[in-house]
Amino acid sequence: MKAILLAGGRGTRLRPLTLHTPKPIVPIFDRPFLDYQIELLRRVPEIDEVILSLNYQPRRIEEMFGDGAGRGLSIRYVVEPVPLGTGGAVKYAGDRLTDSVVVFNGDVLTAIDLDAVIRLHRERRATATIVLTPVPDPTAYGLVETDDLANVRRFIEKPDPSEITTNLINAGIYVLEPETFDRIPRDVSWSIERSYFPSLVEDGSTFVAYVYDGYWIDIGTPEKYLQVHRDIMDGRFEAAPFKGLTGDRILAASTARVDPAARLEGPCFLDEGVTVKAGAHVGPHAIVGRQGRIDEGARVSASILWPNARVGAEATVQDAIVGRSCHVGRSAIVTGGAVLGDRSTLTDFSRL
Ligand code: GDD
Ligand code: MG
Repeated sequence: MKAILLAGGRGTRLRPLTLHTPKPIVPIFDRPFLDYQIELLRRVPEIDEVILSLNYQPRRIEEMFGDGAGRGLSIRYVVEPVPLGTGGAVKYAGDRLTDSVVVFNGDVLTAIDLDAVIRLHRERRATATIVLTPVPDPTAYGLVETDDLANVRRFIEKPDPSEITTNLINAGIYVLEPETFDRIPRDVSWSIERSYFPSLVEDGSTFVAYVYDGYWIDIGTPEKYLQVHRDIMDGRFEAAPFKGLTGDRILAASTARVDPAARLEGPCFLDEGVTVKAGAHVGPHAIVGRQGRIDEGARVSASILWPNARVGAEATVQDAIVGRSCHVGRSAIVTGGAVLGDRSTLTDFSRL
């Protein structure tokens, strides 16, 4: 069985982080996001190949994952000449498939049991099976109405507040029968959510819902990107590198140099080559990427620092994301959900 990972979006809501790093490989701690998804797909013995559907900065992603040999399944790349939208991308990547295929949005992290979804798809002899998950506010997602027998009755992408009739949304995980791809036009941008799913409802296809209320998140905004790190650190989502960790939950690489007069407060993560100077206070919920440097008396909490960041003496970084090779000047304050793009420099005493 094959799985198509839709990973060609531009990641606009994660800008400026995604200007130089495509969304599928933004780091979660020290690993690219797709690693976590591939791990989930690998747990399904039936899935022997992952087709990565890309168009934005594909080279970087190919270099990182190769043919998948080190990750226990085979990876193939399909690069669209132009973005074809979620439906066009499925058509382009799955054109010659004949068996049921798993389709997965490339920005979703979840602990779902995919085997169970595939089983339901088969039991119901479905044309399409979609995973639904409850959220407090469906307006940023695809709202899905079902009947008592878990058949999909309506699909409204990005509903207006007035259209909200349920808290169940499309989790971005499907099992599809390729015979339905003939309704997707070739080589034009086409949305699986706005066109393909509504068309299945309209023509009475067996379109089945699998409701999942375990851990699920779309990492596509800075808030959610911060949230997913907190969830892993606090054990709401069991995953490396914090899986099974109890106690102070301070994870520091062996090459990190922390001054004895600095304070680390868990949960926190210091990657290879990080330096923390005397009087600095790092954590809770701080992630300092490779070769980061936190100077004397600086304060870093509830934040993610990508590799090679430097936080000057007495500076504060709280509830913020700091891109690669940024320099936060001494006594500067960066807070309130600020997101600094790669190589930003903040002059000493700046307030952001
Ligand atoms: N190959 C390819 N080509 N991939 C694409 C394209 C494209 O043109 N456009 C988007 N994608 C990929 C994105 O990279 C992402 O992994 C996935 O398709 C979904 O796109 P998003 O842009 O993240 O959509 P969304 O989050 O607003 O909404 C989607 O996901 C929600 C769940 O997170 C929809 O599927 C909603 O219905 C759903 O609720
Ligand atoms: Mg998304």
